[in-house]
Amino acid sequence: MVHVKTTINGQPAEFLVPAYLSLLDTIREVVGLTGAKEGCLDGNCGACTVILNGRIVDSCLVLGAEANGGEITTVEGLATPDALHPLQQAFLEEAALQCGICTPGFLVSAAALLKREPKANEQRIRHWLAGNLCRCTGYDKIVRAVIKAEDMSSQLSKSKAKVAAKPTAKSSASPKASSVRSSGRSGSGRK
Ligand code: FES
Ligand code: FES
Repeated sequence: MVHVKTTINGQPAEFLVPAYLSLLDTIREVVGLTGAKEGCLDGNCGACTVILNGRIVDSCLVLGAEANGGEITTVEGLATPDALHPLQQAFLEEAALQCGICTPGFLVSAAALLKREPKANEQRIRHWLAGNLCRCTGYDKIVRAVIKAEDMSSQLSKSKAKVAAKPTAKSSASPKASSVRSSGRSGSGRK
């Protein structure tokens, strides 16, 4: 058994895992998060996609032990307690899923893209998502949903910036308090 200390969706996690167990089985069977799905088990379908240390990976091809000291984001980590992730909302609105087996993988891959390239064009989105296969939707709705999520995210950032820029009684007394900082984003994908 391997002792693994990691962070999953922002929460510290610690467990023992057989050395041969894949990250997919570790997340599903040891940790109990069943969002990542098992499709082909040979790195072709992308249903098992998670983000490991800032990169999207097919978790069926990675060992659970490799997560030691790392950071994992699964589909369960996309929404907040208050709202769905814009991608999840857009997938619902665009009916970008049917059986749903591929959906967690698409969401996680697309979330990594949006973080890295918030304004990716259609061609780039299609290229980025080439490692995720869907046997139901025909991809157009999925791509439309990702484009819609980009718009939703940009609107969200604009309204957050507006709220942050609004002068308050305190901030008008202190010019420093009304300054707006934009946070830098970084991340890398498998492509
Ligand atoms: S189950 Fe991992 S790529 Fe298909
Ligand atoms: S919705 Fe069924 S495989 Fe994509």
